[in-house]
Amino acid sequence: MGWNSWNTFGCEINEQLIMDVADSLVSSGYLSAGYEYLVIDDGWQAMTRENGRLVPDPKKFPAGMRALADYVHSKGLKFGIYSCAGNKTCAGYPGSFGNEFIDAETFAEWGADFLKFDYCYFPDWADPKIAYQKMGQALRETNRPMCYSICEWGKNQPWKWARNTGAHMWRTTIDMVDKWDSVRWVGFDMQNGLSSYAGPQGWNDPDMLVVGLNNQGFVAEGGCTQHQYVSHFSLWCMLAAPLMIGADIRSIDNFSQRLLQHPDLVAINQDPLGIQANRIIDSWQNDMRRQIWVKPLANGDMAVGGFNLSDQPMLLELATGQLPLNPDGQYQIRRLTLDGSKNRRHSLVHGEQKVQLDAFECAIFLISKKD
Ligand code: GLA
Repeated sequence: MGWNSWNTFGCEINEQLIMDVADSLVSSGYLSAGYEYLVIDDGWQAMTRENGRLVPDPKKFPAGMRALADYVHSKGLKFGIYSCAGNKTCAGYPGSFGNEFIDAETFAEWGADFLKFDYCYFPDWADPKIAYQKMGQALRETNRPMCYSICEWGKNQPWKWARNTGAHMWRTTIDMVDKWDSVRWVGFDMQNGLSSYAGPQGWNDPDMLVVGLNNQGFVAEGGCTQHQYVSHFSLWCMLAAPLMIGADIRSIDNFSQRLLQHPDLVAINQDPLGIQANRIIDSWQNDMRRQIWVKPLANGDMAVGGFNLSDQPMLLELATGQLPLNPDGQYQIRRLTLDGSKNRRHSLVHGEQKVQLDAFECAIFLISKKD
């Protein structure tokens, strides 16, 4: 869990911004909610290496990366940096191809705790698995523990091999932008069938959150409705996906802030079993699409998400017979309140559920066995 500069700022980043975001992560409750990595994405680099080393753009980061990492650490946060497996980064800055060992050393000297490693300008003749493996090894050889985040966009089915490179998370799709079609496609369509590849120490990454962008910032493409943002965040929690905030948390609206810090949703996301939800239903009826996703939890409960993916209201039926439950067992079902409030009030209901959902609304249930 953390924050990444890309979705709002693109390459328009600098030292003061990162320090301000570090302050907000702490003062606005994000760190206590679990968001601990502050990741600087593309655009921090100078255009040329110095003595073979990557260096930050001196205009954007005059005090240098070590000083900035120290500041971030002094706030109790972890410091993340970005580079690319290819010859250049996606924004055209120097990449790490052929320089994996020296770059890993540089990042470790700065005190990095996280590396996002992208895939632009990757030579046709080279093997991405070997390049990602090489950086994985280079990071290990620094002896500094770093979360290794592979951003290969799912091109070569990284869920099948990324764990062996030492990666802790791997992007499964191309970039998501701030509009519902993109969220729906990346999340509700593309993550199906990938659950068996995720688990503790290695996660499928369906990209950073667009919650709170509200059609502002670098990846704004029309924005989403409140129900769409809630469905997006709820699905990412069900998927046990990395939760990387992309919004400007210095000025985010209250609703989005409360949603991102929703204790029950975050607990589902962080559940120690680390199981990614499976999609058990994806059905169309009269032009209305609904999905049901199920995630077993460590305490024996089951999180169930019912999603209305249509632009009209629907009555969603959650027949317990559709769920992987013991038919002789007795269960109780609580629906989480998802209005962004911190209130843990749950309605207690039994048996079959029929729930009225607005356009693009979802309902998240916790099902537990009755003693
Ligand atoms: C790619 C990645 C994005 C972002 C940009 C930076 O598009 O997928 O997440 O890191 O590069 O240029």
